[in-house]
Amino acid sequence: MLFILKTTVFIYIALFRCIQLSLVSSSHVECEDEDCLNLIPKGYKKHSAPPGINGQPLNVTFAINIIDIDEINTETMDFRIHGYVYSTWIDNRLLINDTEIINFKCSRYMWVPDMVFETAKSTKQFGNKFFYIDKDKSIIASERYAFKTGCLMHFENYPFDTQLCMFSIALMSSNDNEVHPQWDKENANEPISFSKKIEPLQFHLGKPRTYTTKAEYDGANFTYLYMSMSLKRRLTGSVVNIYAPSTLIVAVSWVTFWIRAEAAPARVALIVTSLLTLCTQSSIKQAVYDAREEKNTKKINTWIEDLIPEKGENSGKQQENRACSHCSLASNAADIDVLCRKLFPLLFLIFSVVYWVYYLSIYEQK
Ligand SMILES: *[C@@H]1O[C@H](CO)[C@@H](O)[C@H](O)[C@H]1NC(C)=O
Ligand SMILES: *[C@@H]1O[C@H](CO)[C@@H](O)[C@H](O)[C@H]1NC(C)=O
Ligand SMILES: *[C@@H]1O[C@H](CO)[C@@H](O)[C@H](O)[C@H]1NC(C)=O
Repeated sequence: MLFILKTTVFIYIALFRCIQLSLVSSSHVECEDEDCLNLIPKGYKKHSAPPGINGQPLNVTFAINIIDIDEINTETMDFRIHGYVYSTWIDNRLLINDTEIINFKCSRYMWVPDMVFETAKSTKQFGNKFFYIDKDKSIIASERYAFKTGCLMHFENYPFDTQLCMFSIALMSSNDNEVHPQWDKENANEPISFSKKIEPLQFHLGKPRTYTTKAEYDGANFTYLYMSMSLKRRLTGSVVNIYAPSTLIVAVSWVTFWIRAEAAPARVALIVTSLLTLCTQSSIKQAVYDAREEKNTKKINTWIEDLIPEKGENSGKQQENRACSHCSLASNAADIDVLCRKLFPLLFLIFSVVYWVYYLSIYEQK
């Protein structure tokens, strides 16, 4: 009995608190957002888009100001865009006199485009908002975001690859009959702008391009606004880490032909060292680029694999020379060495020229 009484009293107290709180908060909201509420006519439908002019769909224009691009991740195939998304439209239903209003709280009471960023794997809002209502009932809204954007990357041409990444904006609940989204190209505006020059560590960022596509769902057309960005890999890293060291090793192994054929230990040591270094290099490379990329033929593989057989041939010839030094064929070995001193760098030069001309042409194409 006592327990029931206690519970009832407790529930009453809780209810009273709730009512009190909601009263306090509603009056609080009202006084803070008064200038917003004055704009809203009776019967305003927050969830339906404002009508356009002459029965046309409402134009909503979008622009993006990119602050930064970072965390370009080739393993998870995504990167992050930091930026402000601007949208502009006209809401003819509003009652506005001759003062413009800047108050982001007004966006709670009015229709705002419900943007959906389809290529974004995750979206972070920073809560920094700007909401401007002009005297002519045009509205500019802007908000800061960080998008983790998925990008289908291709590594067939690694390290000469260029990745093309898409970012999209569409409206979730307004189809083309109600709202017509478009990139802000009026007054020669650039829909995509940068607040500073962005230089990602491993890539060159190309100039973003914008285009528009349509898709049909449930018998209605929806417009998708796309921004495409190209990320072209910088070659500096590969040159410093792979090409320069392996070229040096080839140069060092060339020295073998100046060591007399009889001095077998010296030649063997040099060849073994060169071979081991090349093997280590290719195993580092494989550790860095995982199984997913392995299925694509990689140009660095071509480079390193083509270097290794050259060494293999040398060591074979070396052993032959050693065997023959007993049969006093040393002069013959010396002749081969003299020939190889010229042939070896020549072959390497031809291979390098063909390799770089071919792959740099692929690289420049993109
Ligand atoms: C506009 O003016 C009318 C009458 O002059 C007034 O009642 C109304 O509150 C004003 N609206 C705004 C948003 O200031
Ligand atoms: C809406 O956009 C279309 C296409 O850009 C343009 O032709 C039309 O004039 C715009 N309507 C308004 C009311 O600005
Ligand atoms: C969608 O757009 C296409 C091409 O503009 C048009 O042929 C089709 O009738 C549209 N569908 C609807 C439901 O408006």
